[in-house]
Order: sequence, then C-alpha cells, then structure tokens
Amino acid sequence: MRTLFGQFNSQDIYCYTLRQRNLEVSILTYGGIVQSIRYPDKQGNPLSIALTRESAEAYQDGDGYYGAIIGRLGNRLENGQFTLNGKTYHLTQNEGNNTLHGGKSGFHDKLWEVLFESETQLRLRYVSPDGEEGFPGTLQTIVTYTLENEGLRIDYEAQCDQDTIVNLTNHTYFNLHGIEKTTEGLLLSIDADQITPVDEKLIPHNTFLSVENTLYDFRAPRPFCTDLSQDPVLNKRGCYDENFVLNGEGLRKIATLSSTESGISMDVWTDQPGMQIYTGNPNGIALETQNFPNAIHCDRYPSPILKKGDSYKTTTIYQLKKV
Ligand code: BGC
Repeated sequence: MRTLFGQFNSQDIYCYTLRQRNLEVSILTYGGIVQSIRYPDKQGNPLSIALTRESAEAYQDGDGYYGAIIGRLGNRLENGQFTLNGKTYHLTQNEGNNTLHGGKSGFHDKLWEVLFESETQLRLRYVSPDGEEGFPGTLQTIVTYTLENEGLRIDYEAQCDQDTIVNLTNHTYFNLHGIEKTTEGLLLSIDADQITPVDEKLIPHNTFLSVENTLYDFRAPRPFCTDLSQDPVLNKRGCYDENFVLNGEGLRKIATLSSTESGISMDVWTDQPGMQIYTGNPNGIALETQNFPNAIHCDRYPSPILKKGDSYKTTTIYQLKKV
C-alpha cells in the first residue's frame, strides 16, 4: 500500500507499508527510510518499535539518520580522504575533518526509485553519479526490503563503473519496549570478542581491543543502559558508539535485543564483519551492521574497495519473535 508522505525538492515522497503475518513495516522513498515497524506485544497489541519522525520536513532537517539507508560509505573516514590506484580523493568533510555516513548529502538524503513492490517486498534503486560527495565512479545501488518469517530482511547490492569504496548500512533505532519509552532495561547480547577502539573523534586506527573484563562484553545478555563510570572513554562520551568485531562469517546470528516488558525479542543476522552500536539516543539503539570504520586506512580491517564491474552484496535480517 502506497500513500503520499510529503515532498523533497518539490518531488513526492511515498510511504510503502509492507505486511507479513503480524509484522508491519513502513518505508519511505526518501532515504529508503524505515519509517515505522510494528509488532504485537505479549498482550497481542501492535507496538511501534522503531523510532520515527513526524513529517518529511523533520526527516530532512534532522541529523539523526532515523531509519535511513546509509551510503556510499557508512561510518567515519579519517580526514575525509583516501588514495586508490595512486589517486587521492577528497570527500565532503561533514564532521570536523572527517566524513561521516557518506558526506553531507549521503544516501539518506536522496529520493530512491521503486523498482518493485508487493505486499511483502520493496526494491529501491539509487544511482549515485561519478564524483558525488567526492567518491569515484557511478555507483548503482539496489536495496531490497523483504518481510519473511516475521523478520525484516535487507539485501544491499551495488556496482560501480570505476574502482571505488563502499559501506552500506541502515540506521534504524530500535526500542522493543515501544518508542514512547526509554531503552532502560532492554537486554542486548552481541557475539563479538573484540571492538575496534576509537580516538576522541571516533576514528579507529587499525587496532583491536578484547572485550574481556570491559563494558563492551555483551557475550551474555545484559542491559546496555548501565553505569558507564568504570570505563573512562564511555563515561566521558555517555554512550556506546563503537564498532564490534563480529565472530564468525557468512550469514549468521550475531546479536539479540529483547524486552521482557513487551515480550518482544529481535535477533540480528548478518554476513557483515562488524556492527556499530550507537546508544546516544535515549529512546532507541542503532544496530548498524557494516564493514569497519576507516577501513581504507587500516590494512588489518576488511577492505572496503569495490572493483569496477564487481558486485557488492550483503544481507542483514532483523528477526522479530516472542521472548
Ligand atoms: C554514529 C554516531 C552518530 C550517529 C548519528 C552513528 O552511526 O556512529 O556517532 O552520532 O550515527 O545519528
């Protein structure tokens, strides 16, 4: 079902609502934004569990990347520049000297074309011109949202006509207590033995840190809204904003978020090597599956290079279930 949602640069933004059994997900053609996710709580009442904004204008004014597709390069690139095949590329620096989430007007700020729609699937395309935000090559990106087994599956595909760098993700903030509440008391587990520690500008530098005996240890479920004072970095920042190095490879279950209050739980499956956890919003947690930040400058991290003509393909599933 399609409804008119608002306007972007005098063009219409549509909202598509997908349904499969008890799961209902609305997606905007602006930014490919997951505008809402509804799933029944233990009383059987539909609960809104993804943070949402009230209007098209609010999505365009705000800087929280609510629900959006993030690209071309999710997360941070140090100094907003990189060298590929002997040539240095200067990207838009939109966070101090660094580039965050693809530059000033990344994929979250584009109108996406609908290639296919059905009751349970929406396929979106955006073609990013050569040089957009400073990136080399014309990049065609297709993102497919599919509801299956009461889960939200996101398939990302991209191809470029030149060698380039890519890191796509989605920036939905989840709150399984329901979005009227804070995230206090939500339980999180992450199958990660390490993180990529960051400097004060949130840039990692080719190193790893074991989670053992740290507040980054989520290998057993525990609340993430907790006293951060034992860790000077987290205490100063007041939230988690780090990339977790996910164990294993291939499409695998790497995290679970759950609310005993609502009776809703969510497993995160991905084939990606990393996941940024961002808890700076008191009403929702972002679980951004992705490649590691600043990877083009770090040879111990997986390469973000996409070669001309090759296919970038990655899948993440947010699987809802009862606790
Ligand atoms: C980043 C945060 C940033 C947030 C913006 C996250 O992906 O890691 O540092 O503040 O996005 O909403």
